[in-house]
Formats: sequence, C-alpha cells, structure tokens
Amino acid sequence: MAPRQAHDDQGIYALGVADLPDPLGPPGVRHDVVIAANRLPVRLDGDGGWALSPGGLVTAMTAVMEGRDAVWIGWDGGLGDAADSAPPARFGDMALRSVSLSETDYADYYEGFSNGTLWPLYHNGLLSTRFRRSWWAAYRRVNEKFAKVAIETTEQDGTLWIHDYHLQLMPAFVREARPDIRIGLFLHTPFPPSQLLMRLPWREAITDGLLATDVIGFQTPTDARNFLSLAHRMGRTEEVMPIDPVTEIIVEGRRVAVGSFPISVDVDRIDEMVRDPAAREAANAFRESLGSPKHLLLGVDRLDYTKGIDARLKAFEELLRDGTLDPAEVAFVQVATPSRDDVRGYSNTRTEIEQLVGSINGNYAQLGKPVLHYLHQSLPFEDLVHLFLAADVMLVTPFEDGMNLVAKEYIACRTDGTGVLVLSEFAGTAVELHQALLCNPFDTAGMKRVIETALTLPVEEQRHRVRAMRTHLWANTVHDWAEGFFRHLDDVHPRGQRG
Ligand code: ADP
Ligand code: F6P
Repeated sequence: MAPRQAHDDQGIYALGVADLPDPLGPPGVRHDVVIAANRLPVRLDGDGGWALSPGGLVTAMTAVMEGRDAVWIGWDGGLGDAADSAPPARFGDMALRSVSLSETDYADYYEGFSNGTLWPLYHNGLLSTRFRRSWWAAYRRVNEKFAKVAIETTEQDGTLWIHDYHLQLMPAFVREARPDIRIGLFLHTPFPPSQLLMRLPWREAITDGLLATDVIGFQTPTDARNFLSLAHRMGRTEEVMPIDPVTEIIVEGRRVAVGSFPISVDVDRIDEMVRDPAAREAANAFRESLGSPKHLLLGVDRLDYTKGIDARLKAFEELLRDGTLDPAEVAFVQVATPSRDDVRGYSNTRTEIEQLVGSINGNYAQLGKPVLHYLHQSLPFEDLVHLFLAADVMLVTPFEDGMNLVAKEYIACRTDGTGVLVLSEFAGTAVELHQALLCNPFDTAGMKRVIETALTLPVEEQRHRVRAMRTHLWANTVHDWAEGFFRHLDDVHPRGQRG
C-alpha cells in the first residue's frame, strides 16, 4: 500500500477521507480496543496538575477497562497544542492519547454545540436551545479530528467504542476510511423524542452519524425508541427487526443494532470498600461530627441545572418552614462537583443554589451548627462511600437524567439493607430501581410528601426495598453492561468481516 498522505494543519478531511490511499498508515502504536470520549479520564486541574475527570462516564469506563489493552482518546482539558504539561501516558491499564482543542474549538464545539445546543436539547429543552451554524461547523471539525486519531490508533479489525453526545458524527468519518473497524457508540444522556430532535437543523447529519455505527446503545428503552422513530422519520431504515433486547435495522444494506444498555456500577468494588471496618468507623465519625442528627439527608451531584439540586433544597426549606422538620434533629449534606463553569446556565444555577444554601442556614442553623452543609468540591470516592454509608435518605432528584449512577452507588453501599432512596421519575435509574420512593422534582408539594415518607419509613420496609434494588444491581453490573455491548458488536460485525 502507498504511504498515507501527510497530515497537514487542516487534517486529513481537507483531502476527503475516501481519497486516502492507505488508511492504515503511517505505522504507529495501534490498539485492539479504542475508547473515544470528549474527555480523557484525567484532566488538567487549575494548578497545572492532573485530576480525575468528573462524571459517570469516567466512573464506569475506568471500571470496565481494567486489565484490557486499550487506548483512550480524549481531550485533556487544556487549550491549544502547546499545553504546559502533557497528560500521563497511561491511566491504569490504558494508554492515553490526547486530542487538542483550540480556544475556538472549546468555545464553539464544547461550550457551544455540545453544551449549548445538544445538552439542553437532549434534556427535554430544560434550557432554551441555541442553534448556531458556527457551532455546528466546529462540532463537525472536532469530530473529524477525533476520527483522524481513531483511524491512526485502531488496529485492523479492531474495536472503537465512542461515548456520548459530543462525538455523534465521528462514526461516519471513521467508517468511510476504515470499514474494517467495529464501531459502537453509547449515549450517556437521554435521547429526546423525535418531535424535539426534529428542531435541529442538522438532524439528518446526526442521524447518519449515529447510523454509521454497528451498535448504538442508549440508557433506557424509551431513548432507543425515540432514536428509532427519528431514523424512521428521516427515511433511513430499510428494514426493522426487533430481536430482543435490541432492534436491528438495515441501513444501506448494513445491520445496525439499536438497544437499551443501562449503565451501572462496580458493585463488587463498592462492596469491598464498604465491608472494610474502617469505612463504617469513618461514616460514624462523620455523623458525629455533624452533631449526630436524628435524620441525615444527602445529595451528591455534578453541579448541573439538570440535577434538580435547587428543587430538593426548596422542598427542604419548606419542610423546615412549615415545621415538618425540626432543625435540631436534621442535617442535610449536599456535595456538588464543579462542572462546566463557563457554560451558559451553570453559573446561574450555582448562584441560585448558593443563595438557597445561605437562606436556609440563615433562617434555620444554630451557631456552629449549620442545618445544611454544602461543598462545591470533588471528593475522593472513598469519602463519598462514607457519606453514602452515613446517610439515612439519599435525594436524587434530577429534572432529566440519562441514568444517574449516584443512586446506584448509594444502594450498592447499603449492605445492611437500611436507607431510603428518593428518586426522580425522570432519571433513567427509575426504570430499574422501582423500589425507590419516586418523586416528581417539578412538584414541590409532592416532593415534600415523599421526603416526609422517607423519614418515617419503617426499617422493615426499608430493608425490603433496598434488598430488591441490590438484587437488581448485582444482576446488572457495570461489567455486564460492557460485556453486553461488546457481545452485540461481535454479533453485528464479526471480526474480519469487512474492510
Ligand atoms: P453525571 O455523569 O451526569 O455526572 P452520574 O450520577 O451518572 O452523573 O455520575 C456521577 C459520578 O460522579 C458518580 O460516579 C459519582 O460518584 C461521582 N461524583 C458525583 N459527585 C462527586 C463529587 N462531589 N466528588 C467526586 N465524585 C463525584
Ligand atoms: O453524560 C454526562 C457527561 O457528559 C459525561 O459524559 C461526563 O461524565 C460528565 O457529563 C462530565 O461533563 P464534562 O466533560 O462536560 O465536564
């Protein structure tokens, strides 16, 4: 084969990927399994050091990639090519390969199209969605950039597993150049009803990008159905065959599997952490440090307007105001990981939450004894486990959420079967964890009633519910999730079949 053409500043797509004489050259380090996500599992922190990237994607993928020869392609959080320090070459068993973003890429692809257009659109239009052609151009450009790195990095007949809404065009670019690669994409967010997605001026391109995969995974059956309905409306499905648990469609003569693959947690790892007596001691010490309240409520989220942190704080404030809760008996801990500080909507949400925190403590705390403890920080997972062990009631109240791993982590920690999970009907998790106390975060009065029920739920009833949820989690672990996804890839696109 002829050597591949030089990669100029504009990337290979300036030439058109189909014109490349040798998509497998130049030689470099190639891997059998390639993970592509917007972010690497580590990102530059404010001080030039490296910290774990926030969010459920990293939590889940680091668990399932342990022991596999894989590379993770992603952005390292810096801007421009001349980052002060390169990311570590490895993260656990995985090699890391960074994709650089310019300031314009960051503004238009990350803040703009990914988080100003797609994120609100995919979360049922919670924030008004903006459609800008310059953002779209950047999204396309960055997807091409990621595709170029994947093409260079994936072995012949290797597997490329793409994650999330940032990279929905990437499959089409990769398939054009490397039909041998088995391509899967898992969407961690919800997928909206086709009626909502039809607003997107680039709906055909997004549909075609996703359909260039072999397997598209969604969090819930509703998300998968929404996508199938869109593909149908776009006239892309030649044949539709429900083959439980996926639906196979034929697109340009090719099989594509579309299905729900609910993401989960590493229950054995969590169980091991919880069974360490030091963890229980730390949880007890933590509870004592709060003055041993009769009731301890907990919220743990990325600080995001989709998470309903404000809704739960308003319900808590009203329960204190109308005397249902006694501030001398209750403590609420809310941990919020800093996230997307520069993106529209996030700083307003933060201001609103922090004003609520101030007002609640202003009205109901005693000197030296806040009723609400608020941390705007990322904590080590061990510390979160201690909080999960200590809390009587876990409040997970998003307005819309693809899955929500925090809810599953709380249940995985409750080895003695006690504890109550208050869970929004609009979290993907609610499809699986029916025994949680479900609530509607848009209904403050309803949420107050559910919190009241949670605080008075008899221990036997708690155990009954928690045990049922634990049984479900142990039968559907994060490892089952990944293996199920890879199995479908093998089935739809057996190794060596194309390319
Ligand atoms: P998302 O992916 O939208 O952030 P998830 O609930 O699915 O939401 O995943 C969040 C992940 O981040 C969980 O694994 C949770 O333990 C972790 N996490 C949440 N808050 C914090 C925090 N303050 N510090 C460290 N990790 C956190
Ligand atoms: O699906 C939620 C998500 O986009 C995940 O991909 C990631 O875990 C999290 O949000 C973090 O977001 P960001 O990379 O924008 O900080």
